[in-house]
Amino acid sequence: MAEKKVALTTLGCKVNQYESAALEELFRRRGYQVVDFDSPADVYIINTCTVTHLGDRKSRQLIRRAGRTNPGAVVAVTGCYAQTAPDEVLELEGVDVVVGAGRRADIVDLVESASKGRKVKAVEDIAGCREFEELPGESHQGRVRAYLKIQEGCENYCSYCIIPYARGPLRSRAPESVQAGVRSLVKHGFKEVVLTGIHTGAYGRGTGGGVDLVQLLASLANVPGLARLRLSSLEPNDITPELLDLVASGPPFCQHLHIPLQSGDDYILKKMRRRYDTGFFRRLLAQVRDKLPEVGITTDIMVGFPGEEDEHFRRSCAFVKEMQFSALHVFKYSPRRGTPAANFPGQVDPRVKEERSRELINIGHALARSFAARYLGKTVPVLVEQAVPGFTAREHAGPLLDRTAGEHREIYEGLTENYVRVFFPAGEEWRGQLADIKVTAISGTGLKGRIIYK
Ligand code: 5AD
Repeated sequence: MAEKKVALTTLGCKVNQYESAALEELFRRRGYQVVDFDSPADVYIINTCTVTHLGDRKSRQLIRRAGRTNPGAVVAVTGCYAQTAPDEVLELEGVDVVVGAGRRADIVDLVESASKGRKVKAVEDIAGCREFEELPGESHQGRVRAYLKIQEGCENYCSYCIIPYARGPLRSRAPESVQAGVRSLVKHGFKEVVLTGIHTGAYGRGTGGGVDLVQLLASLANVPGLARLRLSSLEPNDITPELLDLVASGPPFCQHLHIPLQSGDDYILKKMRRRYDTGFFRRLLAQVRDKLPEVGITTDIMVGFPGEEDEHFRRSCAFVKEMQFSALHVFKYSPRRGTPAANFPGQVDPRVKEERSRELINIGHALARSFAARYLGKTVPVLVEQAVPGFTAREHAGPLLDRTAGEHREIYEGLTENYVRVFFPAGEEWRGQLADIKVTAISGTGLKGRIIYK
């Protein structure tokens, strides 16, 4: 019999990407071939996101697309949209299986027990889930940087956020398992590991873990062959002097922190049920920069939260500029069913959200360019990731840089330690290597340059 084929697609955050890599591995172990989402397959998996209504909408589009590519295939939906609206998802045309957040490990059996016309719902109440679900397969992510999930769940209940309902209570992966995971990734050739979670800074709180985040990180500092260890999003309240001292100790710790601000206005922060004000945030960033002079600080910021008037938005913009973030992820507030803010008065007109979003995105680009500019003329280590399709070395070089491409005809991209994207001529032999790049110009919100051969 021909090998069965499975195709996955992933929406949303790094945790979802990590989990999709693990799901692929579960299928591989059962003899499936993993193929592109756009090609014919026997099974389609849509790993959904529901952080905003756009996540739901895109999830539905992908479900429809799977049905069109092969109407006879089994379509299984998992992820946060599936967990929070299982019946709605199950009723969508073409959906055969809905797999909740606590049942990922059983996905192959669930898919095989389904057949066209007999729908399977495997979704449990995540609020009672106390165990960190171990998933295999992190070694098979087809990239240079690998994600590793160390923590699951959130109990912060910010007033806008649906994620605590989708992901459940705090639980942490055992430190030995994290260490084994990192070692295994390094053995498979990954140079950079990004530690991810839903509330990563809460590592060790709730169930599992046994050590705190700083202890966990310290235990990973000397893994042989690990060039870079990056942390994904950390709440402002979770950043301690001990954590900063550890990151300041240098490699493998990347001089990059993603610290979600959400709003730069104290009234809005309070309504959001964030646990800090702008004064706290300002003092925090001063401490961070004092200990980590090269740090890049990126953030998430939301526009159009209920009650956000022009004056609040103006203060938010001014604060974002003052904080000198090196990149912004801008979100338009989206009311999520079951969250308090969905029923707050003063919901903002979508056109106003759109305008504010555009303005903040522009502010973000300007901040990114000015952060990048500090590297002009300098040489920085970059982890080489992949070729940029449709972009040749000749275009890259331009009139000023005619000698720099050397024999390379393709442009590659990679990141600095502090998360600035850099473009440079290179070849496949550079993939996964740390290259010293002499920076020659700003390119969009990143940099371009050329490899300095040692
Ligand atoms: N609407 C818009 N953005 C949201 N986020 C979380 N909930 C919502 C919502 N209801 C954003 C926050 C968070 C990021 C991952 O998603 O900015 O940091």
